Amino acid sequence: MCGIVGYVGSKSALDILLEGLTNLEYRGYDSAGIAVNVEGKVELYKAEGKLQNLKNITTAKKEHIEKSTIGIGHIRWATHGAPNTVNAHPHSCNCGRVAVVHNGIIENYKELRVKLEKDGCVFKSQTDTETVAHLVAKKYAQTKDLTEAVRLATKEIEGAYALAVIHQDVKNTIVATRRNAPLLVGIGENEYYVASDVPAIIKYTKNAMYLDDNQIVTLTPSSMKLIDIDGNSISQKIETLPWEPVALSKMGYKHFMLKEIHEQPDVVRNVLSGKLRAIDEKVILNEVTLNRESLKNLNRIQIVACGTSLHAAMVGKYIIEELCDIPVDVEPSSEYIYRKTVGDKNTLVIGVSQSGETADTITAVRQAKSRGSHILIVTNRPDSTMAREADSLVPVNAGIEVSVAATKSYMAQVISFYLLAIYIAEIKDSASKSILEKIKRELIILPQKLEKVLSHKDDVQICARKFANSKDFIFIARGINFPTALEGALKLKEISYINATGYTAGELKHGPIAMLDESMPVLAILMKGKVYDKILSNAEEAKARNARMIALTDSEDVKLDDLFESIIRVPEVDETLSPALAIVPLQLLAYYIAEFLGKDVDQPRNLAKSVTVE
Ligand code: G6P
Repeated sequence: MCGIVGYVGSKSALDILLEGLTNLEYRGYDSAGIAVNVEGKVELYKAEGKLQNLKNITTAKKEHIEKSTIGIGHIRWATHGAPNTVNAHPHSCNCGRVAVVHNGIIENYKELRVKLEKDGCVFKSQTDTETVAHLVAKKYAQTKDLTEAVRLATKEIEGAYALAVIHQDVKNTIVATRRNAPLLVGIGENEYYVASDVPAIIKYTKNAMYLDDNQIVTLTPSSMKLIDIDGNSISQKIETLPWEPVALSKMGYKHFMLKEIHEQPDVVRNVLSGKLRAIDEKVILNEVTLNRESLKNLNRIQIVACGTSLHAAMVGKYIIEELCDIPVDVEPSSEYIYRKTVGDKNTLVIGVSQSGETADTITAVRQAKSRGSHILIVTNRPDSTMAREADSLVPVNAGIEVSVAATKSYMAQVISFYLLAIYIAEIKDSASKSILEKIKRELIILPQKLEKVLSHKDDVQICARKFANSKDFIFIARGINFPTALEGALKLKEISYINATGYTAGELKHGPIAMLDESMPVLAILMKGKVYDKILSNAEEAKARNARMIALTDSEDVKLDDLFESIIRVPEVDETLSPALAIVPLQLLAYYIAEFLGKDVDQPRNLAKSVTVE
């Protein structure tokens, strides 16, 4: 998390930096800051809290700041040091001539700080980043060359970083570098941009160069030079960015989250496109590079992911085990990396990540890779760090997701797991043709059913208003919809801050039932299939303890009206496909509750969309 942006060219930098930071706000919003060079002097402007606070400060001095045609900016998700103005980036050195913005963590900052303090550096903040500013200033004093100063500094710093640096004495120059944190350069006409992510620059250019670890780029309005950490010049690979600026618009919706929820029918069509053409045709998944023999020999699958992606992975486990007869373990990446995990070349390791930049998941897949396992990455960002670790790369094509709470990327990941499971099952011949055809049929008609769910969103809104003032919320489900319960609870927690928990319905009686009383809403995910009656019994048990009962169901059974205070109905769907349908009303429920409570839906407190630190 944290986002950095930079501009050097002939235009005024201010608006470009602020616009870039606006589009990176999903990466953090604890503080924001910019550094510009006005009439030969580096100036810093910083503000605690949302970017708007920085905008207010810079608007007041707009005429002055606007004179700068170079600048770097930062949006912060605090790791080291409280989220206040002093700790906001950019950071500077004693003389104030250097300005540095940083995404990542400098792991050896304590040792560096002790050394630098001995040399007379005076630290103002509690951040790890300030060490870089002092270090670069020191190296610049020795070399009088900013690129060299940054290069020498990166030889001493350990950890993860994307850095952009300017120096008062080196006019019109930005030096940027990265290690284990994303960074790209946007290429315009006699101007360059630098950014943590595409949204910051897509309005200005589609030509870009992604930096690799330990590469250092030096940008002036008329030149771009790329070197490695040993100072050798390296060739530049310019790419055309696949995104359109329109992806960053709310398209008339009040929030990005609502827009992204509504995009899901099309997301499903996109994911299926070219991969599932007809019920009687096999799934085409050319992205999987494991040959048929290796696929047949797989003895286990491990899936690693975090947050919402972890819940998609859990749905994946149910589908793969059901269709492919391969044992599947799903584990949060942050747990996987701190224990001995067993696997070999017959273990397929799947990393799932919307951003492809989640540090824990990157570490987990690297660990598995070093053990010889085939790495399959399911991501919405084929341009990400994680994607580069992939032996097989399955892009989910959900389009840019701006809202911090993930919705459409979850849908795309879940649908990708259906395709993957069917693909493996067809190769292994592990499921009957009729079962596979039934799932394919349901997948093809799923977008229409999703559209139906969305057209009934008013019912969800009514339910949301009824329960919006609850302090706690319980979601219960069984089987393949247990992850749906977890994801529904996570959405509610993330954006409304209501304490929500998902339980397997059968576990309710083993402890959580003690919490039930007339103030506790219990939402039962009651989709027709093997476990319907069981969940109904669990709902009865909860009702008997006076809980306020809500059903999410595809059943028309009128008897449910007696048991449940509110019923959210969705079209009938095959049980195997039900997670893809049932999640949508839960996303809407969370959205409408948060909106009703006046919460900041797209930028919930304390969260960042992509967490690039372990
Ligand atoms: C953060 C976000 C979550 C997200 C998780 C994993 O915590 O706030 O919404 O699910 O990271 O992100 P990834 O990009 O790896 O899917």
